[in-house]
Amino acid sequence: MDANKRPETMQRITTPELAQAFIDEQIAEARKQIGDKKVLLALSGGVDSSVVAALLIKAVGRQLVCVHVNHGLLRKGEPEQVVDVFRNQMDANLIYVDAADRFLDKLAGVAEPEKKRKIIGAEFIRVFEEEARKLDDIAFLAQGTIYPDILESGPVKSHHNVGGLPDDFAFELVEPVKFLYKDEVRVVGKQLGLPDNMVYRQPFPGPGLGVRCVGAITRDRLEAVRESDAILREEFAKNGLAGKVWQYFTIVPDFKSTGITDGLRTYDWPVVIRAVNTVDAVTASVENVPFELLQHITKRITSEVKGVNRVLFDLTPKPSGTIEWE
Ligand code: XMP
Repeated sequence: MDANKRPETMQRITTPELAQAFIDEQIAEARKQIGDKKVLLALSGGVDSSVVAALLIKAVGRQLVCVHVNHGLLRKGEPEQVVDVFRNQMDANLIYVDAADRFLDKLAGVAEPEKKRKIIGAEFIRVFEEEARKLDDIAFLAQGTIYPDILESGPVKSHHNVGGLPDDFAFELVEPVKFLYKDEVRVVGKQLGLPDNMVYRQPFPGPGLGVRCVGAITRDRLEAVRESDAILREEFAKNGLAGKVWQYFTIVPDFKSTGITDGLRTYDWPVVIRAVNTVDAVTASVENVPFELLQHITKRITSEVKGVNRVLFDLTPKPSGTIEWE
């Protein structure tokens, strides 16, 4: 049997009952594989690694060591939620690493998108490895690999797994959701009691807000990306668009334009809103966001986000534009 092929007899997980049966089976499987050893997991807070964490906590409790690396490019509230859900609610053995300064120092002055990605990916592995080396007797590495990652290492996942670790780090892998499709992972996550905003989260690129702070990242412009993104997400959630639109976010380019606030001239950044739908991220169409809502969001962003005086809406499908701006 091909160890990387989903068994043909495996039923699609569509109901809480099927999810529970899968969970019970995987708990037994994980206990058998891991025994009394320790297993390490890079926990990003995305749905896949969160489901693996919740599952393995049920199976082996504090033998699972989760490492959450905050690279400073996460969305507002995300690192706090990871700590709250896993450490406070699930009693996880969680190491939280605030590496924001390290990443931002390395990225200072780097404008080229692929260079930025490389720096973020390499630094992530370095931080994770440093943390792992502080621990004794780790025997396994858990990963949130899902079936589409095996079928094609597509653009969505390739950058943020922890492949690329040095050879003496060749732990045996624990991949409990490797035969699941995304919708099945969500059903399992829901059954494991993870919060809805984690389970039904929109895709978020490994390099995070770093590719939405166009060009060379500065701390103040990154803050404008984070704050405007938080407003957009809040308004989409309030207006029933959060579960409907595939991906929506803001971008802050590195140029300024003139404006006026309270009778005073400003020279500030624009915020670009992007909201797209797609099946496979290869092509995408633009969501028809109600104009009144866009006007409301514009008003909020220009009055609440420091350094911003304009809001634009990106009308470009993919192709010709990619979903991200970098
Ligand atoms: P593009 O911009 O290529 O994006 O149309 C397609 C999908 O892939 C996501 N994306 C990434 N995901 N690392 C990731 O993990 C990356 O470097 C990366 N770049 C793009 C993007 O958010 C969209 O869902």
